[in-house]
Amino acid sequence: MNLQSGWQSEFEIARACLEWQVEMGVDEAICDAPIDRYALDPAPAAKTPAKAAADPPAPTAEIDPVADAESLAATAHDLDSLAAALADYSHCELKLGARNLVFSDGRAGARVMIVGEAPGREEDLRGRPFVGEAGQLLDRMFAAIDMARDHPDIARALYITNILPWRPPQNRDPSPEERAMMRPFVLRHIELAAPDILVLMGRISASTLLGTNDGITKIRGQWRDVAGRPALPMLHPAYLLRNPAAKREAWADLLDLQARLRTTQ
Ligand code: URA
Repeated sequence: MNLQSGWQSEFEIARACLEWQVEMGVDEAICDAPIDRYALDPAPAAKTPAKAAADPPAPTAEIDPVADAESLAATAHDLDSLAAALADYSHCELKLGARNLVFSDGRAGARVMIVGEAPGREEDLRGRPFVGEAGQLLDRMFAAIDMARDHPDIARALYITNILPWRPPQNRDPSPEERAMMRPFVLRHIELAAPDILVLMGRISASTLLGTNDGITKIRGQWRDVAGRPALPMLHPAYLLRNPAAKREAWADLLDLQARLRTTQ
């Protein structure tokens, strides 16, 4: 392919390359972060011993991504500034491969805050949590107890976020490091949204916020405490799509949540 002839700009060349990749069947990024291979040094020259000796290793400042996340999250005084702080946070490489920061959906001030795992493909495209197939099931589950993310009655509304605001490539599980980095932001998010009750939706959410390795099928339905608020671990709707028989347990948990909301009114 002669890319030079007839092309107007680098932009058109780049677009043609992308279109060619899409035609070949490429439909998403698979690395955690994009790699600019043109910027890679093709053959780093070996240092001569004399040069190496003259070049003492530069002192590297120790960066603690979790401590940075804690101090950045603490500066946020409302939900908008927390979203801005997250957008400024630079230690999580998932951000480089994501299309959007997925911060939250629903009504701030809702009594129930749902914390899911991480955006999937649809959420990444639309910048809203739980809008794919699992999200549609989540909406139906809560509609069954007359609750919805945009319910006009704030007592029946939901506020929704995730442990991770950026989509992991191929929807892989977030690593322990990524979860540890995001935890301070989620805890601040909970503080600022100030719900009466938290729903920890799925294994990743429950283990990150409860610090437990117990499986979700073991701890679902057991009330816990997160940041001084009652928290109910539940089976993730994506799990329910794969295991419809487990909807029975999810229904029991929803009824329990409804009862708890009545008694804490
Ligand atoms: N699963 C999640 O945990 N969160 C989303 O936003 C979508 C799917």
